[in-house]
Amino acid sequence: MEEQKKKKILCVGLVCLDIINVVDKYPEEDTDSRCLSQRWQRGGNASNSCTVLSLLGAPSAFMGSLSAGPVADFILEDFQKFHIDVSLVSEHAQCVLPASVVVSNISTGSRTILHMNRNLPDVTAEEFSKVDLRQFKWIHLEGRNAEDQVKMIQQVEMFNGALPRQQRITVSVEIEKTRESLYQLFPHGDVVFVSKDVARHFGFLSAEAALKGLYSRVKQGAVLVCAWAERGADALGPDGSVVHSDAFPPEALADTLGAGDTFNSAVIYTLSNGGSLQDALTFGCRVAGRKCGFHGYDGIADIFG
Ligand code: ADP
Ligand code: FRU
Repeated sequence: MEEQKKKKILCVGLVCLDIINVVDKYPEEDTDSRCLSQRWQRGGNASNSCTVLSLLGAPSAFMGSLSAGPVADFILEDFQKFHIDVSLVSEHAQCVLPASVVVSNISTGSRTILHMNRNLPDVTAEEFSKVDLRQFKWIHLEGRNAEDQVKMIQQVEMFNGALPRQQRITVSVEIEKTRESLYQLFPHGDVVFVSKDVARHFGFLSAEAALKGLYSRVKQGAVLVCAWAERGADALGPDGSVVHSDAFPPEALADTLGAGDTFNSAVIYTLSNGGSLQDALTFGCRVAGRKCGFHGYDGIADIFG
């Protein structure tokens, strides 16, 4: 059991550069205005989730693709600053690093993202097959190249098949974007995070309605989780009862970029330490709410008091 506790949480998905422009008024089209501040930040859902896990004190590893050059060096240095294991990062020297230009409005807390990925490939099932899975207790996949990701999960299931229950790897998946191909991931995670955007796309007007309507898509025994910004988050597990946590709004909203990634990490952190679904949701909302009160992620470091 102690051995299992020391194992890492692996997040598979995107790392990119976020160029964040902080404003107090959203700019009008075709105007020339000044920002309150501007910064570079390592971004991407899986990469942000690693940052938060690390700040919570959980050893984490990131698996994804990276380009070469000064921007990639900035990214790698930042991973190292947070003690995130990058040994599974693959370098694609001929590719351009994906980037987002973000307008972060402190008057409303909104974050408007313009993202571009020119040619950086996603992790393939073949690359994943070379990973030594014994070092991980949990693998989280940000839904992207879903067909390959289903194969990756099948590899984890094969690995798990030979192990006693308490040594198995738990798999979570995030279905955030409204892309048809991602919906094939529903039946493959032990924990499935579905976003408000996807829930709305299916016509649901609340997290609870989404959970009840989408639960038939997940595998037997799985947990489905749906966060809904200032309305907190809900989850539904195999016992059929919906669990809810209200949001924990900060005194003043500063920055909601990555709130969802923060929430996911805090839920994974709690569940991977044996916490209940209710504890996981409440902690997820508490950490995500705190994050919204700060720029970036460092502000959550003292969540434990
Ligand atoms: P994202 O848009 O980044 O995917 P979500 O809207 O899914 O994030 O929110 C994730 C969690 O973050 C919510 O469950 C909530 O706990 C917290 N959160 C997000 N926005 C706010 C907000 N405006 N006020 C308080 N908490 C928030
Ligand atoms: C936040 C985020 C940003 C990134 C964007 C990509 O959740 O991961 O860091 O720029 O989403 O969609």
